[in-house]
Amino acid sequence: MADEPLRVMGLSGSIGRQSKNGMLVDLALKKAEALGAEIHFWDLQEKPLPLVGEDGCWSNPIVKEFQEMASSCDAFLVSSPEYHGTMSGVMKNTFDWVYEQHVGGKVFGLMSTLGGISNSNTLNHMRIMLRWLHGNPVSQQLALGHVKEAFDEDGNLSDSSMDERLQSLVVSVLTTATMYRNS
Ligand SMILES: Cc1cc2nc3c(=O)[nH]c(=O)nc-3n(C[C@H](O)[C@H](O)[C@H](O)COP(=O)(O)O)c2cc1C
Repeated sequence: MADEPLRVMGLSGSIGRQSKNGMLVDLALKKAEALGAEIHFWDLQEKPLPLVGEDGCWSNPIVKEFQEMASSCDAFLVSSPEYHGTMSGVMKNTFDWVYEQHVGGKVFGLMSTLGGISNSNTLNHMRIMLRWLHGNPVSQQLALGHVKEAFDEDGNLSDSSMDERLQSLVVSVLTTATMYRNS
């Protein structure tokens, strides 16, 4: 880790922090914090982003705050539910509010939750989208299938192999962001 802590922003493609994606992003951020990062969860319930294109959206102060927060961060931990084989509309709308100037060249860790069996559709679609933003997702990723059963009552992942994958994803994001910062 660099002397200055890395700033890591958490983004969830579900609105509530108690949603499975909110919980997964929180877990990932806690792991990042334990490794010395400064963490910032963007809570859409407290600070809802408008839909791109709706009346007044271009001058909404929350959008400016969101873009400034994204610009100030070195890396992102992002999780979307899979909806009809791809990321949620909430996740896409969140990304539609940032441009290369905010996230270009920065590091992303990608996660996805599914009601059914796990697959990589949403993760792949987020990777493709990030190419347009010149973001750099690390190769590690996490798809959490059968998500209703995936957390224990303390909010931790019930399957230790999933927790290990999450840890390795977070380590990779922080290591890569540190490397970028020092290059
Ligand atoms: C509109 C909609 C579409 C969904 N499509 C899928 C799907 O294609 N595949 C799947 O496994 N689960 C699907 N689900 C289940 C969600 O992925 C699941 O509820 C979500 O990951 C739970 O996360 P959350 O608590 O953050 O919402 C869908 C749910 C909704 C509401």
